[in-house]
Amino acid sequence: MRILGIETSCDETSAAVVEDGVAMLSNVIASQTDLHANFGGVVPEVASRRHVELILPTIQKALDDASCTIDDIDCIGVINRPGLIGALIVGAAAAKSIAYGAGIPLVGVHHIEAHIYANWLVDPRIEFPVVCLVVSGGHSDLILMTGHGEYRILARTRDDAAGEAFDKCARAMGLGYPGGPIIDKLAKEGNPHAIQFPRAKVGDSLDFSFSGLKTAVIRYVEDMSGIAQLPNMAASLQQAIVDVLVSNTFRAATECGVKRVLLAGGVAANSGLQEAVRKTGNELGIAVGMPPPILCTDNAAMVASAAYFRYHQGEIAGLDLDCFASQPLGLVELSRLSKQA
Ligand code: KG4
Ligand code: ZN
Repeated sequence: MRILGIETSCDETSAAVVEDGVAMLSNVIASQTDLHANFGGVVPEVASRRHVELILPTIQKALDDASCTIDDIDCIGVINRPGLIGALIVGAAAAKSIAYGAGIPLVGVHHIEAHIYANWLVDPRIEFPVVCLVVSGGHSDLILMTGHGEYRILARTRDDAAGEAFDKCARAMGLGYPGGPIIDKLAKEGNPHAIQFPRAKVGDSLDFSFSGLKTAVIRYVEDMSGIAQLPNMAASLQQAIVDVLVSNTFRAATECGVKRVLLAGGVAANSGLQEAVRKTGNELGIAVGMPPPILCTDNAAMVASAAYFRYHQGEIAGLDLDCFASQPLGLVELSRLSKQA
């Protein structure tokens, strides 16, 4: 089954063709990063207008790269929640029109679920249960996944998301946007133990908190003299974020008796995080999975993969498919179960 995936929830316009949820035939990502870098962050109205310009050429390129036409597509999967509402509507409108014109089914996909399914593009035989660490610009969640579409949220962030922490610290250091990849690169030239930034614990819970780290970095920038300290700051603040993410993730896996951990979301592209997760997984005998960086950040291949599994659970949307700026993962799944009961 060939699914055309569409993603426009933030500042990437993306379309992809994936076969049977696991074989990626194309994945086109038209990034708006340079456009928003001028403003130091994503401007929602600017993003929506750019999606309108890019969506059809991006879909056409995804079909061309997969050597197929719309007649070869069996279903369309689109992110409809959560995200920038104007941006989501552009992707959903394109998906609905094409599905209607081609007479094929449509599936609405949750953004976090899509990030998790990027792992199935790397390893189609993942066995449940798994603990997923989903870390992006808007989320830092630990999720126990017991089957396709079955999620239990174990932890969330109490304030900033991990990606937000990277971006805000980078801005305070005058490093530009988005901060995560810039800090990742700069950290390779610095000493991760040079500065002892705080690692917040939220009581006994597995929740995250990054706002104290952000404040500490802002204070440090105000006091510091000279640009030479930037690599040490980058390496030290990255280490502070990685330490907390890794420790809570493997604590969750151990407490749940789970033998596999998956990384997902833009921050999962961080080289320090990937290395630390591999090392700890190895030490504890817990298998780890992580997508390559291009499948960690927003892309439509992950959407097509998630849509495949949703389709097989009978979750086919009508042309009244709505978009939601915020909606926790699990809400729709729970309402589906209660309807069945
Ligand atoms: O998943 P994503 O592409 O979009 C959202 O759903 O938010 O994640 C974007 C976030 C940004 O905060 C960005 O700075 C961060 O992911 N990011 C990284 C890296 N690449 C992207 N953070 C740390 N290291 C990276 N290499
Ligand atoms: Zn994302």
